[in-house]
Amino acid sequence: MKITVVGCGYVGLVSGACFASLGNQVTCVDIDAKKVASLKKGKPTIYEPGLEELIRQNLKKKFLVFTTDLKAAVRKSDVIFIAVGTPPRPNGEADLSFVEDVAQTIALEMRSYKLVVEKSTVPVQTGERIRQTLAHHARKGVSFDVASNPEFLREGTAVRDFMNPDRIILGVESKRAEAVLSDLYKPLKCPIVVADLKSAEIIKHASNSFLAAKISFINAISRLCDASGADVEKVAYGMGLDRRIGKGFLNAGIGFGGFCFPKDLAAFIRISEKLGYNFELLKAVEQINEDQKKFFLKKIEEAIWNINSKTIGVLGLAFKPNTDDMRFAPSIDIIAALQSQGAKIKAFDPHAMGKAKEVFKNVAYGSDSYSVCKGSDCLVILTEWDEFKELDLQRVKRLLKAPVVVDGRNLYDPKKMRALGFRYFSMGRP
Ligand code: UDX
Repeated sequence: MKITVVGCGYVGLVSGACFASLGNQVTCVDIDAKKVASLKKGKPTIYEPGLEELIRQNLKKKFLVFTTDLKAAVRKSDVIFIAVGTPPRPNGEADLSFVEDVAQTIALEMRSYKLVVEKSTVPVQTGERIRQTLAHHARKGVSFDVASNPEFLREGTAVRDFMNPDRIILGVESKRAEAVLSDLYKPLKCPIVVADLKSAEIIKHASNSFLAAKISFINAISRLCDASGADVEKVAYGMGLDRRIGKGFLNAGIGFGGFCFPKDLAAFIRISEKLGYNFELLKAVEQINEDQKKFFLKKIEEAIWNINSKTIGVLGLAFKPNTDDMRFAPSIDIIAALQSQGAKIKAFDPHAMGKAKEVFKNVAYGSDSYSVCKGSDCLVILTEWDEFKELDLQRVKRLLKAPVVVDGRNLYDPKKMRALGFRYFSMGRP
């Protein structure tokens, strides 16, 4: 199939590369000329395991091309995926102006039937707006379909998630659109859910909000565990074995971040409001997530007393492991709060330090975990990178000024840490 993917962010780039590797002729479009130039050389601007190799292979086979020319890309393809950003406005609602711009350009360039598919996460009824925009600007006699095909990939495992989805959602309004998309996804073995456009749009927002709710739920439980002396990991395990609950997304910690959950949750709350429903449950999910960071800061104070003029070693800056993404990372608020109280910060992250340098001021970066420990009054863990689990803890203890670890991701066994002589604080565990 001849496919255009508009927007080379996480979703667009990974989808484009994966569609190409399934044997399609894919054109990926972005307005950022620098990004396109780098992609043409096979260099993605994000760190994502397996992506660079996939892009290089498909550039070589000529199944994948990158361009800034949206008009030309529209003319030569049958299916156009819109995967541009839908950033949050100050009130939390999704800014859909990029989606509208792209829809307009597509409409003006269409000379034959096109299937226009929304892949970006958008509020319900956006498809309808896209359809109106296309109808308004399209030439007479040119037919088109609009579909919704939300993407569920996670950063850090994006390529694997795309190729092995739990389900594929096709929000369609015609048999033709259904047939084209079913054909495109035929190589992926998983259930395909065919729905109307609006239901497909809600499936995406509802899924992300539900997962965020699971995380806030277990974080709230972790507060009870902290206060009562219970162990949140045992509680989560005991709950998760019930198949109706499921084991996933029950890791307590410093809360969720990243560019999807916080943004999608806010957008879902706003669209619900617009539709006349006050989604209080999701407002509580947001609030618990914010509180969790404050609670963690209290733990640091409990561990080292006054923050002022203490040196705090921070391991992990990205919002989760296996990504260099710093957007809405809990580390941003936590480090800002520590600095505002006069702490000196030394930090290390295996992949996110480049991007972190654009975010933080006055942070000293270490070349590895141990250099961050050296001379610090305490060690704080904010991201659960695998390499932090493998640290030589005896060495960590020798390097720290005082053997204090405040672990926001529950990486270590509390009993072992205490046996090693650490004062160890974690989330919801005795
Ligand atoms: C998420 C959805 O999982 C994905 O389906 C969607 O397409 C995009 O949003 P992503 O943001 O890449 O993906 O990360 P995810 O692995 O879901 O984690 C989100 C956040 O939740 C991270 O900050 C993570 O640390 C946190 N988290 C996750 C927890 O705190 N506890 C958990 O049990 C799981």
